[in-house]
Amino acid sequence: MNLKGKTIWITGASSGIGEALAIELSKNENNLILSARRTDVLSEVKEKLKYPERAAVLQLDLTDSSSFLEKYEKAKSFFGSIDVLVNNGGISQRAFAHEASLDVDRKVFEVNYFGAIGLTKMVLPEMMSRKSGHIIVISSVVGKFGFPMRTAYSASKHALHGFFESLQLEQAKNNLNITIVCPGRIKTNISLNAIDKDGKKHGVMDPGQAGGIPADVCAKRIISAVKKNKREVFIGGMEALLAFIKRLSPAMFHFIASRVNPT
Ligand SMILES: NC(=O)c1ccc[n+]([C@@H]2O[C@H](COP(=O)([O-])OP(=O)(O)OC[C@H]3O[C@@H](n4cnc5c(N)ncnc54)[C@H](OP(=O)(O)O)[C@@H]3O)[C@@H](O)[C@H]2O)c1
Repeated sequence: MNLKGKTIWITGASSGIGEALAIELSKNENNLILSARRTDVLSEVKEKLKYPERAAVLQLDLTDSSSFLEKYEKAKSFFGSIDVLVNNGGISQRAFAHEASLDVDRKVFEVNYFGAIGLTKMVLPEMMSRKSGHIIVISSVVGKFGFPMRTAYSASKHALHGFFESLQLEQAKNNLNITIVCPGRIKTNISLNAIDKDGKKHGVMDPGQAGGIPADVCAKRIISAVKKNKREVFIGGMEALLAFIKRLSPAMFHFIASRVNPT
């Protein structure tokens, strides 16, 4: 999709990949709706944009699906129809399955899966009648393979692939594009914000995260993939290779991934 001048709704725009996407997209003269829970931080992000006057802040809690219709109407009130939805907001996990309460699994799914598909169901009908629109979903390389201490997180990202790959097939006739992004380790606050076995913040910048690729590099690569209407894109270092190793040799994948430090 040619993104120039388009109206783009980004969730998780207060931090990391979402913030970096907002900053990059603003250079394209896009109208941006910045969503997350922390509106004070979103306002700071807005002031970092090339065209702050072309951006609006919209508070959104991805666990509150009862608010989605009202949020969608509000989002359209700023600049008109939504051309692109970026389902980016998410949380990770740093807990073993046998220690984490079921509430932790549910919380991860509420944000990462039901939040993304709930907002998608809001924008779809109008995109279908216009026969135009692009939905971007930020999955993960662990949406392609399992990983220790990420059971619910990995499962929520696998679920996104099931939903959005099916949607790609359903919407091909309507000219709608869906790009599923599979980042590896990106240097953001995701490990700080990840939840532990009790649902509390992990609060640690994990070494693996600190060594990840910068969020602005990730954002540029996402935008490049969207411009080419890619259905799926991998962004990361060696960890992204594990997805291909798993396809070639599941036994070799198991040998390597069970020995990788999960933090
Ligand atoms: N960083 C990586 O290595 C990596 C790798 C693969 C995939 N990803 C994916 O990339 C996406 C962005 O993550 P990030 O790395 O940029 O992490 P981040 O810096 O922790 O940002 C997460 C964003 O999600 C928002 N968020 C969290 N819970 C929310 C909720 N209940 N309602 C609304 N917004 C919520 C946060 O905003 P508020 O706290 O203000 O609500 C924040 O803006 C996630 O989907 C993540 O799974 C990241």
